[in-house]
Formats: sequence, structure tokens, C-alpha cells
Amino acid sequence: MAKITLVGQGECEFDGQFSMLEALDESGFDVPYSCRGGNCGACTVRLISGKVEEIQTPAYESRKGEILTCSVIPTTDVEIELI
Ligand code: FES
Repeated sequence: MAKITLVGQGECEFDGQFSMLEALDESGFDVPYSCRGGNCGACTVRLISGKVEEIQTPAYESRKGEILTCSVIPTTDVEIELI
């Protein structure tokens, strides 16, 4: 299990959910999203530390150091920050 730390808000466990977004959402974090499909960019966060793996190929192009929580899962403990 990987730990997801959302800076300033707390942490939760990633336990096989479909996406990082789903894990955050299930844990009650108020994180932004819209399409859940990698198209809109609303779920963009800054990846401060840790590694993630893409579970779908997003149409939205993230900037360096940023990830789409709807389109990745953590493969190590990660630290992320809302933008
Ligand atoms: S929710 Fe739209 S890109 Fe993630």
C-alpha cells in the first residue's frame, strides 16, 4: 500500500482503487476534478515526491512536475500539493 500525503490536508492510503483521485475522494478529501478521463486538467496537482504510473493516456498535457490524479496511481509513497 502506498501512502498519499496531500500537503496541508493530511494523508490516506492507496489500496487498489482505480486512480489516485478515487483514493483521495474516498478518503473525503475535497480535491478538484471534472471529467475523470484525462481530458480537462481539473485534477492537476503538483507531485512533490514519489512515483506514479499512468493508468490511462490523458489527452490533457500536464506540465513538468504536475500529474493528473484521475489518470495515475502511486507506485511509492507520494506527496502532492493542490495548485
Ligand atoms: S478530472 Fe479531467 S483530467 Fe482529471
